[in-house]
Amino acid sequence: MGITGIIYMVTTVFSLVVLIFSSFTVGFDYFQFTQQYQPAACNSNPTPCKDPPAKLFTVHGLWPSNWNLPDPIFCKNTTITPQQIGHIEAQLEIIWPNVFNRTNHLVFWNKQWNKHGSCGYPIINDEIQYFETVIKMYIIKKQNVSKILSRAKIKPEGKNRTRTEIINAISISTNNMTPKLKCQKNNGTIELVEVTLCNDHNITKFINCRHPYGPQSQFFCPKINILY
Ligand SMILES: *[C@@H]1O[C@H](CO)[C@@H](O)[C@H](O)[C@H]1NC(C)=O
Ligand SMILES: *[C@@H]1O[C@H](CO)[C@@H](O)[C@H](O)[C@H]1NC(C)=O
Ligand SMILES: *[C@@H]1O[C@H](CO)[C@@H](O)[C@H](O)[C@H]1NC(C)=O
Ligand SMILES: *[C@@H]1O[C@H](CO)[C@@H](O)[C@H](O)[C@H]1NC(C)=O
Ligand SMILES: *[C@@H]1O[C@H](CO)[C@@H](O)[C@H](O)[C@H]1NC(C)=O
Ligand SMILES: *[C@@H]1O[C@H](CO)[C@@H](O)[C@H](O)[C@H]1NC(C)=O
Repeated sequence: MGITGIIYMVTTVFSLVVLIFSSFTVGFDYFQFTQQYQPAACNSNPTPCKDPPAKLFTVHGLWPSNWNLPDPIFCKNTTITPQQIGHIEAQLEIIWPNVFNRTNHLVFWNKQWNKHGSCGYPIINDEIQYFETVIKMYIIKKQNVSKILSRAKIKPEGKNRTRTEIINAISISTNNMTPKLKCQKNNGTIELVEVTLCNDHNITKFINCRHPYGPQSQFFCPKINILY
């Protein structure tokens, strides 16, 4: 084999190694921070909520995501115990309740960590950091969607809203970035069920969400008559 052959081989092997390495380390492009409006989430669920929902947007999850789908899931399979999160449990119960079964918060948190949070490496390195990051985003970084909407005079009054009115209200508080909305037809009317705020890979700034639900989707939000 001549020198060109060797160089060619070394280059090929090196490229392959880089490719394999990067496919393990660069696991995602950005984060979706998704919150659910409790009454609408309850109405969307096949089994009714055990306890009455609060008229609040609370956390569904923080999801490492890719511009070119699919999003990574189930990267590590570990669970936390109540002891490990004792110091933040009270806060989590307020911002991240299991609205479907409030005796069962831990199962919900563990499921979100396992399915999504565990893929957030190297930004999110363990369970505690995952939960603490969410608390920080919701409370300190002011990503509470109820508060964002109410600041724009959109309160949960059971009124029909336009899609533009909801998106604009959120954009004002997120550096003019576009959120992702999820709606669902419940009981004859279309309800706003979830709002997702998109954050960059480092969780340092808001970015525009992509992949909105299209008209063919059961989660599509029409231009008018969105109940909130
Ligand atoms: C995670 O671990 C639990 C308990 O060992 C197991 O039941 C479950 O199937 C695992 N899930 C995944 C996605 O590996
Ligand atoms: C709610 O969670 C509790 C505690 O894990 C469990 O015993 C109960 O079966 C759950 N109820 C429903 C309706 O899922
Ligand atoms: C989120 O915002 C709503 C509406 O302003 C408010 O009632 C609620 O207390 C806030 N939640 C937290 C944890 O700050
Ligand atoms: C469905 O609509 C009916 C009539 O408006 C109302 O009485 C009922 O409470 C609604 N159910 C739910 C789950 O919102
Ligand atoms: C994340 O932050 C680090 C350090 O601040 C920076 O070097 C890196 O370029 C950032 N990455 C992205 C994708 O923004
Ligand atoms: C909202 O609009 C729908 C039509 O899509 C209508 O049936 C419903 O009564 C309206 N609800 C309110 C509260 O105005």
